[in-house]
Amino acid sequence: MGLLVSHQNLCLANMSQTDIFLIMPMSILLSDKVINLRDIFESMLIDTHAHLDLHEFDQDREQVIKTALEGGLSHIITVGIDYNSSKKAIELAHQNDSIYASVGYHPHNAGPSSLKYIDQVTQLAGDSKVVAWGEIGLDFYRGYSSPSDQLDFFKLQLKLANDLDLPVIIHDREAHTQVYDILKKYGKGKGVIHCFSGDKELALAFIELGYYISIPGVVTYKNAILTKEVASSIPIESMLLETDAPFLAPVPKRGKRNEPFFVSYTAQEVARLRNITLADLARQTTNNAKALFDL
Ligand code: NI
Repeated sequence: MGLLVSHQNLCLANMSQTDIFLIMPMSILLSDKVINLRDIFESMLIDTHAHLDLHEFDQDREQVIKTALEGGLSHIITVGIDYNSSKKAIELAHQNDSIYASVGYHPHNAGPSSLKYIDQVTQLAGDSKVVAWGEIGLDFYRGYSSPSDQLDFFKLQLKLANDLDLPVIIHDREAHTQVYDILKKYGKGKGVIHCFSGDKELALAFIELGYYISIPGVVTYKNAILTKEVASSIPIESMLLETDAPFLAPVPKRGKRNEPFFVSYTAQEVARLRNITLADLARQTTNNAKALFDL
């Protein structure tokens, strides 16, 4: 029966309130417990960070999107990492009402050759389906581009986002102090630290500045002690959920290609850690994402 009920939920995700009332008798037949329709409507999840434009999705992009939306996601934000990817993100967003885009240059792509396109990215940012500038930030782990290029690009894009009053999506890898200092000095306190990898103190410091903390699938990994602590202890009003698909698939899909639907595994683990229901977690994190990105 459990399976039938959850399949029923999948279908409900795509229906209007009227449709649902029309099929009410069927849902009562299928279910031996009362389904709270408000719970179903309010417990939809948002994947606040995916890279749907990447080649990993070339073979089955439509199916991946369909699986996510039928599986209980209300929105997906597909995040740009350079000019072309930002453009593709916008195209995808225009093909589907539930998809929104962000534009920007990932720190891996910071540098003089990218600077040539920054005006074009700024133009893209004016598109009606663009809800954020990102992902931007610092990555001193991979070091694909020089720290000074990364710093310049980060500050420049923060300024552009501020001018357009767009929230920022921040990438911070092995650069906690620098990212914090820059956001404190130049940021407007409107955005999210994506795929958060710091400890609880750092999370609270970012929250103090006004930023949301986004919990990735890493939280499902056994050895992710720090992330589990962050996910279980920060104020829920400051938390978002994400996949970073196609990267970092959560357990039980670890090692496979990640996709937006898998944010539900992350949500289950965070709800377990916080000892709250999945519906409560979904309701709050979805409201947070809607507030930040004005969805
Ligand atoms: Ni990303």
